[in-house]
Amino acid sequence: MCGIFGYLNFLVERDRRFVLDTLIKGLSRLEYRGYDSAGLAVDGDTEDQTFIFKQVGKVAALKKLVDTQEIDFEKSYISHCGMAHTRWATHGQPSQLNSHPHRSDNHNEFTLVHNGIITNYKEIKTLLEKKGFSFETETDTECVAKLTKYLYDSQKNSDITFTDLVKMVVKELEGSFAFIFKSTHFPNEIVATRRGSPLLIGVKTAKKLKVDFVDVEFGNAPDAINIPDKDPTGFMDPTEGGRPQMNRSLSRAFMSEDGMPQPIEFFLASDASAIVEHTKRVLYLEDDDIAHIADGELHIHRLRRDDGNSPATRSIQTLEIELAEIMKGSFDHFMQKEIYEQPESVVNTMRGRVNFETHKVTLGGLRGYLSIIRRARRIVFIACGTSFHSCLATRAIFEELTEIPSQVDLASDFLDRRTPIFRDDVCVFVSQSGETADTIMAMRYCLERGAVCVGITNTVGSSISRETHCGVHINAGPEIGVASTKAYTSQYIALVMMAIQLSEDRLSTTKRREEIIDGLYRLPGHVKEVLAQDANLQKLAEETLSKEKSLLLMGRGYQNATCLEGALKIKEISYMHSEGILAGELKHGPLALIDENMPVILIMTKDSLYPKVQSALQQVTARKGQPIIICNTGDDNLIRDYKTIQVPQTADCLQGLINIIPLQLLSYYLAVLGNIDVDFPRNLAKSVTVE
Ligand code: AGP
Repeated sequence: MCGIFGYLNFLVERDRRFVLDTLIKGLSRLEYRGYDSAGLAVDGDTEDQTFIFKQVGKVAALKKLVDTQEIDFEKSYISHCGMAHTRWATHGQPSQLNSHPHRSDNHNEFTLVHNGIITNYKEIKTLLEKKGFSFETETDTECVAKLTKYLYDSQKNSDITFTDLVKMVVKELEGSFAFIFKSTHFPNEIVATRRGSPLLIGVKTAKKLKVDFVDVEFGNAPDAINIPDKDPTGFMDPTEGGRPQMNRSLSRAFMSEDGMPQPIEFFLASDASAIVEHTKRVLYLEDDDIAHIADGELHIHRLRRDDGNSPATRSIQTLEIELAEIMKGSFDHFMQKEIYEQPESVVNTMRGRVNFETHKVTLGGLRGYLSIIRRARRIVFIACGTSFHSCLATRAIFEELTEIPSQVDLASDFLDRRTPIFRDDVCVFVSQSGETADTIMAMRYCLERGAVCVGITNTVGSSISRETHCGVHINAGPEIGVASTKAYTSQYIALVMMAIQLSEDRLSTTKRREEIIDGLYRLPGHVKEVLAQDANLQKLAEETLSKEKSLLLMGRGYQNATCLEGALKIKEISYMHSEGILAGELKHGPLALIDENMPVILIMTKDSLYPKVQSALQQVTARKGQPIIICNTGDDNLIRDYKTIQVPQTADCLQGLINIIPLQLLSYYLAVLGNIDVDFPRNLAKSVTVE
């Protein structure tokens, strides 16, 4: 989804070329999130000028556009604020006009970039139109730029600060957002804020920062800028209300140790991948934080008066990712790299948590909540897409080991149903990004109802990891490809580990736990064995499947989730219609699709349901179907009679971790053969931050 990047330098001399290149590079690091157009804004030649460049298509096309401008690339700045954006269209088609940054007027007095959706934009637009504003785009965002100007003009004689102006704007907005604001009225200042969409700020200095936190500056009046409640038209009367009353504190962190302002650069971004090559020192904004950067200092204000619960500081943390982790290296695509990383990523998920000798699992992030979770009346797993499949894949082992009734819900449906949730429920939110809008909304819904909320995410500092009571980071490393691969296997393992730890007080399940932990020990080797079949899978994709229009994947029990996940992978990156079918349901409908022309993959690895899947095989072959079978190595009858993909056998509840690998590779090769941009499939985004 949309990506935001901002760059500010203070007392560090940079020329325009450097600023533009930094912004464009920042955008290229966010490309993986999915987008259809890009744009940026930098200072013009005079203080009252802002240059905006926008282009449909790739960041490379924006770069080309910028490079051909007749502007002075050598112009140098001691202090400068630039911002950039990749847009994933929600309101209005991808077009140059609809791309961000959006502006308040022809003079670009206020420019901004936005990630998220403003749900009350129509009301704001109607009102502004009545006030004489005209709109040039179809976006929801433009009304925010115009609203900023409207409020600024109404306050003109009151010396309003940029921070207070943005506060007034944000108070009028409904929906989700992360914004960066820039203005010719406030040169070299930037205000950034968020609600529901991620935004972090990287800090780069040559000298050490004095402290590693930033004080939050709470207003000391009931409302920080004393503005009256909304008037009936939806806007406050900006002429009423007193002067801002802020508790101004020194921004202690940004002085050098000798107490002097120091050369400093700030990087704002939707995620850490755009920042890590510049600095590892970052601060995550909380919802309703208003960050103001000017004169080399970062001040964090709150939109509203302190409710007594917000922490008084934001800590400056150290990113743990390396630049190499977000580079493709020798692989052709991120997806391929990530599939191949799985022998290591599964180990990283278990590292320090599973003791293979004592057969014990310790998940530090759940400490303190284990006894509450064990007493839960029910466990509700909530997620979207691949993350939902990891929950489905592990529900049975959860129920078996914990004996707690468990349900798995798609976040959007969970919300649509307004599912009843009680204080003695435990709700588990699984999300690679930790920023998926539907999952976050479901989490907040459950928090409001008093349930214990557990987060399982890959992104430290994400909304889900910050807002849940406890949780597990899956530690799979950054996943850039839109198709989730290593995150799936790591989520799966994290959930299995959680089930094991929850059941450690049950003697009756000791043997079962030991069998699973032994299986986890052998897992990296098993994954490698499957990866070694890469060439065969490529051949299978090329010779048997690439010309097909459709592909059915069938299995049952633990392998139902594998079929659904495999089908999702195939459709999302190869655009081939694919469906995961519970083999037990065949005769209730899907069997009608079967004939000699319908491609079928049947998962028949050995577990207690094997005889039942055999009967599904007979139902398919009796209709002249010629399935490709995923079976265990050594299952000679199948290997003799059918086209097979052979995988090593493991504990039933872990078999899905191995069986998904050939399907990931098949989907990858089908996409490559179809000449599809594997890492950026059409219409999709990596991080789905809108409803
Ligand atoms: C899977 O390949 C997808 N790209 C998608 O289904 C994804 O899993 C889903 O959007 C949920 O994302 P999350 O894990 O970041 O919450």
